[in-house]
Amino acid sequence: MPKNKILIVSNWKMHPNTVLEASELLSKLNFTNTKNKEFVICPPAPFIPIVANYYKKNKNVKIGAQNISEYESGAYTGEFSAKQVVSLGVNYVILGHSERRKVGETDESVSEKIKLAFKNKLTPIVCIGESVRDERGEYHNFIQQQLLNTLGNITKVNVSKVIIAYEPIWAIGENAKRETTKEEVLEMNIFIKKVLTDKFGEKTANQIRIIYGGSVNEKNFKQYIDYGRANGLLVGSASLDYKKFNIICQK
Ligand code: PGA
Repeated sequence: MPKNKILIVSNWKMHPNTVLEASELLSKLNFTNTKNKEFVICPPAPFIPIVANYYKKNKNVKIGAQNISEYESGAYTGEFSAKQVVSLGVNYVILGHSERRKVGETDESVSEKIKLAFKNKLTPIVCIGESVRDERGEYHNFIQQQLLNTLGNITKVNVSKVIIAYEPIWAIGENAKRETTKEEVLEMNIFIKKVLTDKFGEKTANQIRIIYGGSVNEKNFKQYIDYGRANGLLVGSASLDYKKFNIICQK
């Protein structure tokens, strides 16, 4: 994908409840305005085949998994591997989402998964984000550590292809404290770029795309791109409401 395109990633999480509802949602989504945009849908694993099949002939809509195992294959009941999702037509994978970190995902496992993703030609969308914004600015150290722990062992060539999703936990989902401001998104964008530049050099850092996620909706999305300089958006609940999501995709 050309790196100057805006990447719009929908994260369906564990929704909707049935194949029928998933098919209905797909039939209402509008991805016709593809100018400077690229779309990625990340359905729950059981629905990957129907979504992949639905967009088989549409080059502008790619499929993402919401996770992969940190192991290549083996006796890991309930897990699924990078190779398996690739065989279904998946190109992207969300890694280190805060909702997965809550159930035990660590920076170390995210790092392993990033390596496996690249080994299997999957583009990782690596989520980072602090749970609180303390007045002393400690969250900067936290973000820096998350970046270095997850990307520190990845080769420069691969790091340049990573997509970072900055998702402050306090701004995600139904329990969000408030929306992130456009100034906060710009500030974090600059900060993340600086950490990446210090570690990997300017050339590599400039190739890494940084997208924003957390309570993105049809009313607030534009400012995160125009002012916040995000290279794209990771959209949760608004991506399940086709009216809202179509506005985000069409504008
Ligand atoms: P939200 O979720 O848009 O519902 O806040 C975003 C995410 O968790 O990726």
